[in-house]
Amino acid sequence: MRPLFTLNNRLSLCAEMVRKGAKIADIGTDHAYLPVWLVRAGFASFALACDIKAEPLMQGELTIKKYHAEDLVETRLCDGLNAVNPEEADDIIIAGMGGETIVHILSDANWLKDKSKNLILQPMSKHELVINYLYKNGFELKEHKCTTCDGKIYTAFLASYTGNTKTPDEVFTYTGLLKNDDENDLRFLNSTVNHLEKKSNANPHFGEIADKIKARFLL
Ligand SMILES: C[S@@+](CC[C@H](N)C(=O)[O-])C[C@H]1O[C@@H](n2cnc3c(N)ncnc32)[C@H](O)[C@@H]1O
Repeated sequence: MRPLFTLNNRLSLCAEMVRKGAKIADIGTDHAYLPVWLVRAGFASFALACDIKAEPLMQGELTIKKYHAEDLVETRLCDGLNAVNPEEADDIIIAGMGGETIVHILSDANWLKDKSKNLILQPMSKHELVINYLYKNGFELKEHKCTTCDGKIYTAFLASYTGNTKTPDEVFTYTGLLKNDDENDLRFLNSTVNHLEKKSNANPHFGEIADKIKARFLL
């Protein structure tokens, strides 16, 4: 059998959050690298590789065939989780998309409000929208990790439903962190502060949030 490829740091960050033996749904799978890797490496028992567009899904099918994962990965053409049944996935991965799209996908799938489901979310932008949506809808972050890939900083959240809704404070909304644990957290915090400071030209409130983040984590 063809040797398995290596995931990049960004996708590895998501893979590390998958529960051993879980059935997974990878939403916005594109080349299906993550589901193929997870089943072939023995971390997931079955995977749905879903995408809203046919072309990426065809690429995904090529990856599935190339790595002989046909029995363990099924492709599905759908918007978000619209064609996924709750019993088909324990861990739901939504990676490589903007925060707005992730929120759209989550808010369209009410069955995710189930304490047994884990959400693995890797926003490429506007992570604050995802954190805000999660807490206001009864989810909480169980883990938040950052990594560097090709010189860029990336973030991924592990979240699940608790039923307790709350409005997170602004510092948590923009950082998702309770402490600054390692050098990747530090890079993520600095990049968030830089982003907010740029936006403060248009609205000084973003500068105030940046100052609060610096005071809590960086001074
Ligand atoms: C940049 S790729 C990310 C691929 C992979 N998840 C990763 O992290 O490397 C984004 C993929 O999400 C798909 N996508 C965008 N919106 C979607 C939606 N609402 N439902 C399902 N897939 C979607 C796109 O077609 C594209 O293939």
